[in-house]
Amino acid sequence: MEKQLLEKFSEVYGEGGDIREYFAPGRVNLIGEHTDYNGGHVFPCALTLGTYGLARKRQDRKLRFYSVNFSRLGVLESSLDALVPDEKAGWTNYPKGVMWAFEKRGYTFDSGVDFLIYGNIPNGSGLSSSASLEVLTGLMLKDIYGIEELTMQDLALIGQYSENNFNGMNCGIMDQFASAMGKKDCAIFLDTSTLEYEYAPVKLKDARIVITNSKVKHSLVGSAYNDRRNECETALKELQKVVDIKALGDLSEEEFEAHKDAISSEICRRRAKHAVYENQRTIRAVKALKEDNVEEFGRLMNASHVSLRDDYEVSCGEIDILVDLAWKIPGVIGSRITGGGFGGCTVSIVKNDAVDTFIETIGEKYKEAVGHEAEFYVVDIGDGAHKIA
Ligand code: GLA
Repeated sequence: MEKQLLEKFSEVYGEGGDIREYFAPGRVNLIGEHTDYNGGHVFPCALTLGTYGLARKRQDRKLRFYSVNFSRLGVLESSLDALVPDEKAGWTNYPKGVMWAFEKRGYTFDSGVDFLIYGNIPNGSGLSSSASLEVLTGLMLKDIYGIEELTMQDLALIGQYSENNFNGMNCGIMDQFASAMGKKDCAIFLDTSTLEYEYAPVKLKDARIVITNSKVKHSLVGSAYNDRRNECETALKELQKVVDIKALGDLSEEEFEAHKDAISSEICRRRAKHAVYENQRTIRAVKALKEDNVEEFGRLMNASHVSLRDDYEVSCGEIDILVDLAWKIPGVIGSRITGGGFGGCTVSIVKNDAVDTFIETIGEKYKEAVGHEAEFYVVDIGDGAHKIA
């Protein structure tokens, strides 16, 4: 892979100079969904799928971008003096957004860069291809401009800042954090209110993580996501009149039940209930995993799905079909929607000897029900973003 990309780089931009290579992974979240902007906990892990980047500094102020995935677009040219969002700039708004965010932090770039990007995260799957591109860009800039003081955590925050303020998606910190801070064979138990985190080995005994891609992405994603955030904020403001909290994640289930009547709208009450209960489920799930209780972990994943489907309403017909089918297969320990929702992927924990049946049965029945195929990835947990030697 790396060698082919290096050849491609030379073909596109010419040989020579100091060409450096990097990788930033996508992520899958095991549990703790829509809690990261509510001061709750999340439990994602980095994948071995992700985005590769090659970069070489230039002498002038030009920025040049080439994506192997969008080769038909050719080389897209911009400049250090044009770091503004531009619809016509397509995917390059992500790396440009990160450069802009560096400048907001007070860093200035003395010269431009040639970038070559290749990603193997399936398009639109909700496995954080954009977050991986942001973290990748941050790492490339940190390295080629020698900005030593920036930590991987800083790169995650810069990525999120650029996504929120340059690309207009009001996401939380989970995706960028997982891409920057991932660790092989571990999930990250992250408290999004403090950014304190802990690596928890994902020991599934005789089971694997299987991601199923519904291959649908409903168009309301961005706006519905921002709506959910607003509904949670409304619920929080009303709760704060009766109980002293900074975020929904501060509440236990009992406290929520005691104070929930302060939330006037029924919809906002259900959104807040999900945020509170999901956070507590995540804490419990990590405890169960540490105690080698994979079955309990799976039950909590299933409960997470029900809550996302009924109270948070971010699932959709196709995803519910995948999860319902999975729940019926012997050897499936848990299955739920993962990521932002409205399509994308499910994550399941499946016993080794049931993986083939899982893929065959769901593959067939899903196609029968919706008319197109699903895609399956039996995944490994990889490291966070890094330079490739
Ligand atoms: C998207 C966002 C994350 C998080 C999830 C839902 O992936 O980018 O910050 O909110 O949705 O858990």
